[in-house]
Amino acid sequence: MPSGLTVGDNLAQLWRHFSLEYELFRSVPGWVPRVVAYEVKCVLVEHLHEDMRRARALRERIADFGVFAPERRIDPGLANLVRHLLQAPFDGALVGALYRVLKVEQAAAYRRHLDGTLRLNDAPTVAAVEDHLPKLDRQIAWAKALLEGPALPTELGRQVDAFEDEIRNHLAALGGILAPLAARGRSGVTGGSSIAELEASLAGAAAMPAEEIAELTENARAAAAAAAGPAGASGPAPAIPEYPAYVRPRLMALEPRFRRQGADRQHDEPWKEDILAVAAYTHFTELPVIDICAAIVYDGRDLDGLGADRGGEEAGEPAPPPEDPEEAARLAAATETYARAVARAQEQRARGAGLKGETAAAGAGGRRTELPFEFYCDFLRQTWDEVRHSRMGFERLQALGIDPYAVAIPMGHYAVWGNMHLRDRIASLTQVGEACSFKGKREWVAAAHERGEWLSALEHDYDMVDEKNHVRFGARWLPEILNRLADARSPEEVVQDADWTFRRRINAAKRDLGEAWKEVLGNKFLGCGTQTSDVTLAPEIIA
Ligand SMILES: [Fe+2]
Ligand SMILES: [Fe+2]
Repeated sequence: MPSGLTVGDNLAQLWRHFSLEYELFRSVPGWVPRVVAYEVKCVLVEHLHEDMRRARALRERIADFGVFAPERRIDPGLANLVRHLLQAPFDGALVGALYRVLKVEQAAAYRRHLDGTLRLNDAPTVAAVEDHLPKLDRQIAWAKALLEGPALPTELGRQVDAFEDEIRNHLAALGGILAPLAARGRSGVTGGSSIAELEASLAGAAAMPAEEIAELTENARAAAAAAAGPAGASGPAPAIPEYPAYVRPRLMALEPRFRRQGADRQHDEPWKEDILAVAAYTHFTELPVIDICAAIVYDGRDLDGLGADRGGEEAGEPAPPPEDPEEAARLAAATETYARAVARAQEQRARGAGLKGETAAAGAGGRRTELPFEFYCDFLRQTWDEVRHSRMGFERLQALGIDPYAVAIPMGHYAVWGNMHLRDRIASLTQVGEACSFKGKREWVAAAHERGEWLSALEHDYDMVDEKNHVRFGARWLPEILNRLADARSPEEVVQDADWTFRRRINAAKRDLGEAWKEVLGNKFLGCGTQTSDVTLAPEIIA
């Protein structure tokens, strides 16, 4: 057999690698809230972020072949395999099957791809794969050491092995990551084997909707698979059940050695007068924000199904108009300023290019309720950033002599944000919680400088670099989501409503847990400058 993959076979292989990577990096985040161990949660997210970058590199290479949105035509068998993975009985089994089965197979498949392709002709593929293989190998080594160590008692270890076998058998029944291609020999993805045929099929790819290109290649792949016959020579392939969509938990898991706490952050620890300790604590307790962001990634596939509002008790009424004339005048001015800002933003949008690129792309074939590729990239990046912020706080607490396992972790943030509509989570978290956090942080950096706490100052300096991006992510995706939901409200109105819902729900959670709550919650959000919302992820400044 002559050496060197054909262009068609190469594209088909790249597409299968990509299919599995894409489904994994946007699905496994749905499991992050169920991962108990802090260290494992953090490393898993860091790895998912690496995986996303690998998927992006593959996608970029696939675009060279004229296919610009390969995610619109994901192999359904691989998508079902990933849904099966998400049925893992507990987090150790998920980690085992992901790293000791799927990632091991992926690394082997990438190596086979490198062995099979021409290093010069196909150098862009070689570069994309070789850039990322060492990271994948390190991930596999990490999980191997973790699971071989004392992480699991023997009985749970057996259950991990059993689930790994299940996933291994499922993949084998599919014929492996690249098997359908190997089984059908050297016929090209477009139905022929020559470059000329591929070029003819994809001619004018720029003008041809990605959907049609996908259609074309999928039909050819189905025909090739049928010609190759069922996997395994001895009889029909075992039937693979169709696995249901995984649904995230309503509450986040937490290591038992952490101290859990009811709803919001409570600064009633013995060190509450130490501004540095309070700031580090606040940063560390972005731990639930990791889970909230991971939930945003996962639910992006299904805006009005998985991403729908799952309800929650609400408590607290708006404040009556202030009696004090000065206060009433201040509120009236803030209301007017906010209304002017809303009008300005709407005018700007009306003057803009109309539909955003993403919405236009959705019209060309994507599902309305499934957000596009870049959405998962943005919010997975945010999830990783929150891991870093929480870890920075963890380290600073230790440096200040405070045991992070002795402080109280607020459980209400995930319980409330995690169950609100995806639209409202993004609106409230990014446009209020994060957008309004900068003032407090700047003041805090100044205080750290005064005390000569250089590392504490840098902790928040770097945090602010990230948080500005998170506010941008929200501003980018909120209008897009509103378009897709045909929600006629302006983003600013949605932000105001979502903030109000969040405040009422966390207020009810506090009430139910016997913590301090309010019957009158104050005024609706009128911008960061007005202090009308107490939702902020900034550390409090203690005077
Ligand atoms: Fe953060
Ligand atoms: Fe953030």
